[in-house]
Amino acid sequence: MSGKASNPSTRLPSRLNLGVLVSGRGSTLQALIDACAAPDYPARIVLVLSNVAGAAALERAAKAGIATAVVEHKTFPSREAFDEAMRARLVAAGADLVCLAGFMRLLSPAFVEAFAGRLINIHPSLLPAFPGLHVHENVLASGVRFTGCSVHFVNAEMDAGPIIVQAAVPVDPSDTAESLGARVLGAEHQCYPLAVRWIAEGRVRIKGVRVEVDGAAAAAAPLINPQPTSSISAKK
Ligand code: GAR
Repeated sequence: MSGKASNPSTRLPSRLNLGVLVSGRGSTLQALIDACAAPDYPARIVLVLSNVAGAAALERAAKAGIATAVVEHKTFPSREAFDEAMRARLVAAGADLVCLAGFMRLLSPAFVEAFAGRLINIHPSLLPAFPGLHVHENVLASGVRFTGCSVHFVNAEMDAGPIIVQAAVPVDPSDTAESLGARVLGAEHQCYPLAVRWIAEGRVRIKGVRVEVDGAAAAAAPLINPQPTSSISAKK
């Protein structure tokens, strides 16, 4: 690459530095990598940190030329010591915003406090419903007509904190956990880059349990599921 003009980071000096925490396959990380590749995207990833050596997410980061680090929780005497090691790596990398992207460890209150207002997570349900693991199985077992995904600021509880954006995904009676999870994942890949963009643009404010987003309004129409099929409508 030659000349300053061709370097996106010099065109956008105010790009937000992201530290991304991963544990697994990294498809959510990939959505952020792809978003950051656009010259006008207001964020860039400065570090991908995993608690699992060999996580596929690390390969995705390396392929994109992003710095990676492995901090294995197994090698620390306590959660606090592990979190402190992660905190130090994120600070050293200059992370402004920490994005959990399939990071499957509970964080200690000290870590959450260290990044208060600068720590976000994505979860594959309409929180506060269905936190934790086995989300799509639990959704199907409950009979709800909608599920979705949530991007939220992180507090000291699991999958909890002020919600920035959600996407609703209709549940179909023929769904399996795999088919439903795949549709939710598609929504996740849209929502996470969007939330990060809004934060980087300075449009997001936490107001108690709620989040205000400048320049974004509630969707106007209710989404109804199920809908009458054309064959039934024709008989009427
Ligand atoms: C995503 O569905 C994400 O929402 C979920 O893990 C998956 C990671 O997939 N996170 C949680 O359940 C957090 N409680 P990925 O490794 O392909 O990004």
